Amino acid sequence: MLRPFLHYYFMKKDFQINYEYFRNADELNDIEKKLLEKAKQARENAYSPYSQFSVGCAVLLENGEIFSGNNQENAAFPSGLCAERTALFWISANFPHEKIKKIFVVGGPKEFSENNPPIPPCGACRQSLLEYEIKQNENIDLYFSNMNNEVVKVESIKELLPFYFDSTFL
Ligand code: THU
Repeated sequence: MLRPFLHYYFMKKDFQINYEYFRNADELNDIEKKLLEKAKQARENAYSPYSQFSVGCAVLLENGEIFSGNNQENAAFPSGLCAERTALFWISANFPHEKIKKIFVVGGPKEFSENNPPIPPCGACRQSLLEYEIKQNENIDLYFSNMNNEVVKVESIKELLPFYFDSTFL
């Protein structure tokens, strides 16, 4: 496979990222609304006693099934895991051949205020998401949102990780 950034030895370049912003749930289609609701439900079950910051996510598979996850914290802080990877690893363990179409993430402080913006996935979750996007050779739509139903959408994980590390470097 060709390394995507081979040209970085030779040139200066600006990266552009493309995203879409939705002001509220009315601007979403039916499946997107459903994923938003499922992600919010999953957020209710987050185990986040240390950060008081709860995140839920819902993942749509190619077969139409939706699975969810939430953040799982631990008294030994690094042993916890984000909502996205909790869901992704479970899905990959149980449905290794099913493509992931969309992932919807909703997060914010447990005591949510109007000012909390949509929360983007952390770097480690972007890297994990990218692994599955590359593995399945098909883009994953990623949505991230807050409890006010403001939503940001990107149509590939690569939008959020332009200089990504993948197996071509190994
Ligand atoms: N968290 C997620 O679950 N997903 C993210 O993408 C950002 C952060 C969790 C990790 C930790 O439990 C809490 O939010 C505060 O960082």
